[in-house]
Order: sequence, then C-alpha cells, then structure tokens
Amino acid sequence: MSTPDISFPPAPENRIFSGVQPTGNLHLGNYLGAIRNWARLQDDYEGIYCLVDMHAITVFQDPEELRANIREATAGLLAAGIDPKTSIIFNQSQVPGHAELAWVFNCVARMGWLNRMTQFKDKAGKNRERASVGLFVYPNLMAADILAYRATHVPVGEDQKQHLELARDIAQKFNNDYGVDYFPQPEPVIQKEAARIMSLRDGSAKMSKSDPSDASRINLTDDADAIAKKIRKARTDPEALPGEVDGLAERAEARNLVGIFAALSDSTMEDVCKDFGGSSFADFKKALTELAVDKLSPMTAEMVRLADEPAYVDGILRDGGERARDLAAPNLKDIYNIVGFLQP
Ligand code: TRP
Repeated sequence: MSTPDISFPPAPENRIFSGVQPTGNLHLGNYLGAIRNWARLQDDYEGIYCLVDMHAITVFQDPEELRANIREATAGLLAAGIDPKTSIIFNQSQVPGHAELAWVFNCVARMGWLNRMTQFKDKAGKNRERASVGLFVYPNLMAADILAYRATHVPVGEDQKQHLELARDIAQKFNNDYGVDYFPQPEPVIQKEAARIMSLRDGSAKMSKSDPSDASRINLTDDADAIAKKIRKARTDPEALPGEVDGLAERAEARNLVGIFAALSDSTMEDVCKDFGGSSFADFKKALTELAVDKLSPMTAEMVRLADEPAYVDGILRDGGERARDLAAPNLKDIYNIVGFLQP
C-alpha cells in the first residue's frame, strides 16, 4: 500500500471535546461531575462542547421531548458558565462529519472490541437481540465526535473511561492501517477531587436522570424549596459526622453528602470532616442546604430565564454548529483522502 502523498496540517495542541446526552433533567451529578469542570477548562483549552442528540436516539426519544431537552441542556451549559464566545456549544446532528467519520470507524473498530464494552452490556440488559444497532456502535460515534476535531483532551467521568480507551485504540489502528500519523491519542482529563455524586436515596447508585424517584437527585431546575426538601429527606445513618474521612468507610450515604459539600465548597472531604466532625446530620444538612442554595440558585435562575428565550438558545446552537462544521469539514476531507475515497 502506498501512503497517500499528501501532507496534513498539524493537529491542534490543546483542544478539548466533551459531550453530554440531552435526555432529560440535568442534575447535580452532571454539574459537579462534568459541566462545571468544562467551564473551568475553557480558559486553558479550546473547548468544544456537544449535546449528543445522535447518541440520544440509540434509545427511542420522543421527538418533541428531544427538541426540548436539547434546548434545556444548552441552557444548563450556559448557566454553568460556559462562554459561547470562547467555547463552541452545539448539537451533534448539525455537523455531518460526526456521522461520516463514525461510518469509517465502524470499519476500523473490531466486533471483539465492542463486545467488551460494559455500558452496552448494562444498557442492553438480558435482551441483547432487541437492542438497537446504534447502541452497539455508540462508542464508535463517540470516537468520531472526538477525532473529527483531532481533539487532544477529553474530560470524562469514570463511566466513560472505557469508551475513551476505545477511541484511542481506533485512532491508533486507523493510523497504523493507513500508514499515517493523523489522529492524536486523546487524553482523559480526570477531575482532581473526583466528584462522583450518588443518589440521595441510595448511596450505592449513581445520581441519575433515569431514577424514577425525583427525590434521588437535585435537578438544576429545582428551586430553593425543592433543594432544601430533598437534602432534608436525603438518607443518612444515625451516627454523627466523623472527624476524619476514614470514618466514612461503609457509610455510603454519609460519604455522598460530605462529598457534595466538599465539591460545592471547593474544599476536600478531609476539610469537611475536620469542620463538621461530631456534628449531627441534622445540623450538617442545614449547612449543606444553605451552601447548595447559595451555589445553585443563580444557575437555576439563569435556566429559568433561558427557558423563556428559545430563540436566543437556538442562536447559540446555530452559531456553534457553524463553527464546529468549519473545524470538522477540512478534517473529513483529509480523512476521506487517506481512506482512498475519490473526491473528484
Ligand atoms: N457517552 C458520553 C456520556 O454518556 C457522552 C459523549 C458522547 C461524550 N460523545 C462524547 C463524552 C465525546 C466525551 C467525548 O456521558
């Protein structure tokens, strides 16, 4: 095979890509685990942030709800402080390069690789035969999201690490197969204070938009009263707070609330234990409620305001989509060229 006699512009050095599914209420777990971090990273990186509507339909979505959820998630990113002038905010389906590259990657990734993906096994459950094909190749589309921009850094939570590994394998196999050095190996950006926020009702389950109990999560649209009520009702145990983090072992619910306090106050769980060791949970919950309302209500207010401004939100997405297309389109031309697609 002869390597195509073409040269490519160098990959960018500090480009972040990350995505979130627009499938319902954004909650505290999304905020502390991902979106807040995106807002912080945008000063040091070129940020490309995507509402992954094409990933969303790997499981059926009502079209009207999907449209509404894309707008609401966009409002969430804006309210969390992502600046649409510095960073790019857009929905995935606006940029054809994602689907185009995903097809190429469907032909690079191996069945065996995808068969090992734990998220597919979890989501498909016992009935694999009835899962959509899209759900199976979901990680290939995710690799395409990142690599269509030759992004170098990807902020992800624990649960997406395996998919990012796969994206790295795909990038490497593509480069090897075609004898090029085109795709970078995208690096995970893991948060220092790993904010893994759990359900308020069950300390062993991740806070999730699909939990049937609304009391299990703090939604970014909850007002102060709702936040207070949910924290008051959050599960704990009868013990007081320990003076040291070690004292939280085997106390998943207590640990979760301390973790939320630490994340919201930008401190550590050690510090929170030092400050509140010996306090009752009733007192600690009061302090946590005050902190949560203080930190979250400006965001809530902004989301409420943006809910009344759909034209503004759509304008942000339109502008972001255009800028994203301008970045991805020349890369796709290069990629098609490498693969040998004649572009007469
Ligand atoms: N799969 C991710 C999730 O469910 C969302 C996502 C899609 C993503 N494409 C991405 C995250 C690219 C990082 C990079 O959380």
